[in-house]
Amino acid sequence: MCGIVGYTGKRPVVDILLDGLEQLEYRGYDSSGIALKCADSIKVYKAEGKLKNLREELSSHAYELTKSVTGIGHIRWATHGAPTVVNAHPHTCGCGKLVIVHNGIIENYKELKTELEAKGCKFKSQTDTEAVAHLIASIYGEVKDLTKSVQLAAKKLEGAYALCIMHNDEPGKIVATKRNAPLIIGIGENEFYVASDVPAFIKHTKKAVYLTDNQVATLTAETLKIEDENENEIPVKVEQLPWEPVALSKMGYKHFMLKEIHEQPDVIRNILVGKLHTCDSPIVLDEVKLTRQTLKDLNRIQIIACGTSLHAAMVGKYIIENFCSIPVDVEASSEYIYRKTVTDAHTLVIGVSQSGETADTLTAIKQSKSRGSHILIITNRPDSAMAREADSLVPVSAGIEVSVAATKSYIAQLTSFYLLALYMAEIKGTMAQSDLTNLKSEMLALPQKIEQILAHKENIQKCARKYSNTRDFIYIARGLNYPTALEGALKLKEISYINATGYPAGELKHGPIAMLDETMPVLSILMKGTVYEKLLSNSEEAKARNARMIALTNSTDEKLQDLFDYIITVPDVTELLSPIIAVVPLQLIAYYIAEFLGKDVDQPRNLAKSVTVE
Ligand code: F6R
Repeated sequence: MCGIVGYTGKRPVVDILLDGLEQLEYRGYDSSGIALKCADSIKVYKAEGKLKNLREELSSHAYELTKSVTGIGHIRWATHGAPTVVNAHPHTCGCGKLVIVHNGIIENYKELKTELEAKGCKFKSQTDTEAVAHLIASIYGEVKDLTKSVQLAAKKLEGAYALCIMHNDEPGKIVATKRNAPLIIGIGENEFYVASDVPAFIKHTKKAVYLTDNQVATLTAETLKIEDENENEIPVKVEQLPWEPVALSKMGYKHFMLKEIHEQPDVIRNILVGKLHTCDSPIVLDEVKLTRQTLKDLNRIQIIACGTSLHAAMVGKYIIENFCSIPVDVEASSEYIYRKTVTDAHTLVIGVSQSGETADTLTAIKQSKSRGSHILIITNRPDSAMAREADSLVPVSAGIEVSVAATKSYIAQLTSFYLLALYMAEIKGTMAQSDLTNLKSEMLALPQKIEQILAHKENIQKCARKYSNTRDFIYIARGLNYPTALEGALKLKEISYINATGYPAGELKHGPIAMLDETMPVLSILMKGTVYEKLLSNSEEAKARNARMIALTNSTDEKLQDLFDYIITVPDVTELLSPIIAVVPLQLIAYYIAEFLGKDVDQPRNLAKSVTVE
């Protein structure tokens, strides 16, 4: 989603901003821009599309650009108004002296705009952000102090925002503030950075300050001052970031997505180190702070998440109920937050998020926290806003995921859910020792099994080619692989734009079967176990309607040859762990179809890696 970078110091700013924006561009965006404090004015440069267009735009202004040492930059993922140059950030006030970049959504911008237009402000764009530029500028006209103007303006804003602002009359200064959107200040030697995420400046400094909601930071080359909204100064709390600068390299793979799919065996190994030693030792989850008594007193678990993380949560429900006999509800965060939800001190609320910043999940977590529930966060970003709300944290340690379509973070979330469910089952004593031992032993073998799938991926690639000309695609499964069907369909939709849907196979005959004919591929996730025979019957029903049948299976049953046109075989695995194995070929099918169709695999249209607006 949108990204912000700002810098003030002694060094030329242009490359610092462009490089910082480049580090954020994997998050998804559709236009970009920078504002530079130059000799006598602030200059703004913007472009539609990718950052290379902005670089081209800048190339004809080489001289004035090299001088500037203070600037702010932005990549925009359109919310209000099309992704055009006019709507791209930075936005300016009427006289052009004040510039602003913004992540988030200002909910009352229409009211603000009406008020400001009545005072004579002329708007150029369709964005909510421009209203904030005019608002701060109109206050600045009276108070003549940028920090104070931002403090006063922020009191009138509703919604979510991370803002960075410069004013031509206060050279060398950036003012930054936030509410419900991340903003971090990087501290260098006689220089400061400000960004919506760490990768934007991590190669320059590991010292940082995370702004909290409503704080206002004023940065110059030599000074950093942080105040609350009422001008009370707040001590600067510097943290050492637990990050290494990562070269975002594809390591020889054509796309980040393919590289990240191949990293999955090691991701599982990394998670298991220190947590699951041998099949006879208990699970160690140091970051889970639930006491034995709290665990025993729990009467319910509520899991909230979005998108791919929601699918991991659905598998989580299945296994926690199975292993621990505690009722579990799963809900999309965006639905959860706008109804009366019932949680209390006996409810464990689990938030699942790759980014740890997803606005809907963050809001849901805050709501539950205020009702006294223990909050457990499963995230790939232990430094994120969600992690900061956590009473217990399960870091999934997948490493930075660049491809917008989540793959290795999903596998990492699933693995973490299995560890958590086993950990709780051990404490509650709800599983037989022999079942625990068998399952742990199978978990330790998962990385090699995924390696086997990856080593024979040509068969999956062939399958992808064969079905790449389709407009629709159906995935069916039952039980704990129903979320796998949803995830396979989501992956395909996201990167190939094929209309793919996942169904619980038993539901097919209650409506969707009407769509089946000889043009429709139906992929059946046929893993051996309790629902195998049932799913086989559902697949027969689809075959009888002439659908193009594909099996993803760990069965060697000969009768599958007659029923299916294409069979993808995966290594044998116990049914309870099968979602971790079954999703890998589905990720590859989605990847190879999108790649074959020539789509922008790593940055699919309209999508963002971190969705920081509700
Ligand atoms: C799918 C995908 C999205 C995210 C969703 C939640 O490939 O990446 O569906 O899963 O936006 O994001 P997080 O997990 O960061 O909360």
